Amino acid sequence: MSVVLIGLPASGKTTVGAALATVLGLSFIDTDVLIEERTGSLVREIFADQGEDHFRQLEQVAAADALASGGVVSLGGGAIMTEAIRAMLPGHQVVWLDVSVVTLTRRAGMNRLRPLLLTDVRAQMSALAAKRLPVYERTATWRVDAEQPVDDIVAQIMDHLASAAVVTVRVEADQPYDVLIGRGVASKLVERLEGVARIAILHPPVLHDRAAAMAAKLPGAMLIEAPAGEAAKTTTVLDHCWRALAQAGFTRSDAVVGLGGGTTTDLAGFVAATMLRGLPYFSLPTTVLAMADAAVGGKTGVNLPEGKNLVGAFWEPRAVACDLDFLGDLPSAEVASGLGEIIKCGFIADSEILDLARLDPQALTNTSTPAFAEALTRAIQVKTAVVSQDLREQAKAGQVGREALNYGHTLAHAIEKVEGFTWAHGAAVAVGMVFAAEVARRLGLLNDDEVALHREVLASVGLPVSYHASDWSQLRSVMSVDKKARGNHLRLVLLEGIGHPTALADIPEDLLADSYAAIG
Ligand SMILES: NC(=O)c1ccc[n+]([C@@H]2O[C@H](COP(=O)([O-])OP(=O)(O)OC[C@H]3O[C@@H](n4cnc5c(N)ncnc54)[C@H](O)[C@@H]3O)[C@@H](O)[C@H]2O)c1
Ligand SMILES: [Zn+2]
Repeated sequence: MSVVLIGLPASGKTTVGAALATVLGLSFIDTDVLIEERTGSLVREIFADQGEDHFRQLEQVAAADALASGGVVSLGGGAIMTEAIRAMLPGHQVVWLDVSVVTLTRRAGMNRLRPLLLTDVRAQMSALAAKRLPVYERTATWRVDAEQPVDDIVAQIMDHLASAAVVTVRVEADQPYDVLIGRGVASKLVERLEGVARIAILHPPVLHDRAAAMAAKLPGAMLIEAPAGEAAKTTTVLDHCWRALAQAGFTRSDAVVGLGGGTTTDLAGFVAATMLRGLPYFSLPTTVLAMADAAVGGKTGVNLPEGKNLVGAFWEPRAVACDLDFLGDLPSAEVASGLGEIIKCGFIADSEILDLARLDPQALTNTSTPAFAEALTRAIQVKTAVVSQDLREQAKAGQVGREALNYGHTLAHAIEKVEGFTWAHGAAVAVGMVFAAEVARRLGLLNDDEVALHREVLASVGLPVSYHASDWSQLRSVMSVDKKARGNHLRLVLLEGIGHPTALADIPEDLLADSYAAIG
């Protein structure tokens, strides 16, 4: 999706477009400038020498290329009159910069380079307005009063894009709930919490200010700070949280909010599941991994010294808000880790995610781009679809069910363990998927191109695709004791072609070892 600015000549498309692109961290293309670069001539020279028809043809090609950029695009004032260009606009945000003819005449009169305005500026502008305004009105998805200072116009467009871009994914659990994805959606969660007498907001230290800002809008809210990372998922922290709720006099009509990464939401969800045998829980995941994976599916829990996630419960949230505004300060390694899970969803169920990565991997690593929002949304839809059909990991024999989400995870868990949990989870999953692809190739389930696609897509977003720091025999024995290994039999999720996961046991040991050698 691109953000397209339309409007009469001198309505500020270039200035506003450049400023908007800077704020969004996206490219900016002015179709007139693109045409001038391509032809080496000024627009008015093309008009004078080759006529308007010729210019409109050049403009059509330039518009198609600019719209494919996924950035901010300023369409030349008359471009919108070309039917073929209007036909390109569905799916894009088309913002009309509306400025009165009087103001435009004043602005344009000072700029004598515009081809259609050389004589009688006022009369020309009125005539253009009469022809074009009805078309702008019809074509724009939104109109902004563009007689304000540029910063205010940009701020209003940003607000509009935020509200226009909210996606709601419905999860069909025992009690169905919504996952809201978009900028500013935390405020929608706040709306749902209004009127609740007591609300505990669990958060890590780094999100104290965000949590406090949320609490300020909810008179019944109290903050509980949990340690960052896995240190949050301990029985000691759990005990502290339970007691804080007890001391505050929580009842079953009160609520718990988990605001943080997957460790915070796992802890908060489990506190909600267990306190008073179950309190309403609201999830506000703030890392890519937590949004793409931890927030949907109802799994909550804490670790024991004996192992990760050994104590837990299924407890569905009342609502989940994936507010993209929270991701701005997330370290790039955390973003890449979450992308590992998003791309996993691409391999097991939605190849459009892989296409997004192939088209523009840079855009995918930037959480403020529309491409990132789309990939995240698609991943959440994949997880939602899988868990809706298999709420409690009880798929029938012969069906892969929720286990599909474990793609790449068997080797990943072993790597995480032998590396003492110093590896980002998504990075380990990336290596695990390449391993699984190599196994599938050897079993005749994937072809060479499909295996190459694993390496290409994962590497393009900065994830590792090889690993050789450990002996196979060591990793193999760790894999046998994985919680999900079902006894001592190693069961791997493999793809029978992209988008078709299956789970296989009893894979020949030499084939596994050979596959491991291939990722070294
Ligand atoms: N319940 C599930 O289904 C499920 C699924 C996948 C993972 N998980 C769990 O999720 C956990 C991993 O989640 P994670 O990767 O989000 O780790 P995390 O919660 O430790 O977050 C990573 C780090 O980023 C910080 N942080 C969080 N939000 C931030 C923000 N917006 N800006 C800057 N820093 C921020 C955190 O304080 C932490 O230091 C694991 O414990 C895993 O078991 C659970
Ligand atoms: Zn995972």
